[in-house]
Amino acid sequence: MLQKLSLSGLKVVKKLCIVPKVECGIRFLSSAVIKRQNFFFRQLFDTVSSTYTYILGDMRTSEAVLIDPVLEHAERDATLVKELGFKLIYAMNTHMHADHITGTGKLKTLLPGTKSVIGKASGAQADIHLHDGDLVKFGDYQLTAVSTPGHTNGCLTYICHQQCMAFTGDTLLIRGCGRTDFQEGSSERLYQSVHSKIFTLPDHYTLYPAHDYKGQTATTVGEEKKYNPRLTKTLKEFVHIMDTLNLPYPKMIDKALPANRVCGLY
Ligand SMILES: [Fe+2]
Repeated sequence: MLQKLSLSGLKVVKKLCIVPKVECGIRFLSSAVIKRQNFFFRQLFDTVSSTYTYILGDMRTSEAVLIDPVLEHAERDATLVKELGFKLIYAMNTHMHADHITGTGKLKTLLPGTKSVIGKASGAQADIHLHDGDLVKFGDYQLTAVSTPGHTNGCLTYICHQQCMAFTGDTLLIRGCGRTDFQEGSSERLYQSVHSKIFTLPDHYTLYPAHDYKGQTATTVGEEKKYNPRLTKTLKEFVHIMDTLNLPYPKMIDKALPANRVCGLY
């Protein structure tokens, strides 16, 4: 059952019950080969912050969304969207990033009509604020916004059940996870989020993180349940691991956070 939210008439709807019945007929080996029905998918990369940006589109209706765009690549992304004949309706973030400035603000000026989207709990300004369970529709496809706090309070994982894929932001990385020692970080919450919201998805769901630092592009629920060196541990062991990472102060955080608090609006 779907219930429409009154968000300026936009195509964001609240789902009251999620029943992911769709079975994927194809196992995808890499992002490059995903092409099913009218679904378009492209993974893009920023070498400075090792951030992945994703374009998802419906080739039938030409509606598309961008997930986690980076400011320095807004021109690249806008050009690609136009070349492909898409109309960008949403520029979305999985959370308020600390390691780069989001490209959502610039994309709004480059592609008029685009709305910025982020989780309400992020505290960042945007045209649309999402809550747990909200649906973001583009053409015949939809993303379910699932609240997965821990790296930050406002972290969302975007799940496309129709394509058996999820965009985990920094909540779950390939064989890793986002750090929990700044913003509203909480190791306990991140562990609970992953185990209750991501590891409960079917094993074959492909997971696309916000970053990778070792050259990998995607993973699956089954792989991470088996091989993630942190999240296969007990909660107590996981908290100890996160408490003793001794990571350096994030070099972009003082510049990125103030910009990202408002970037979705200009
Ligand atoms: Fe992050």
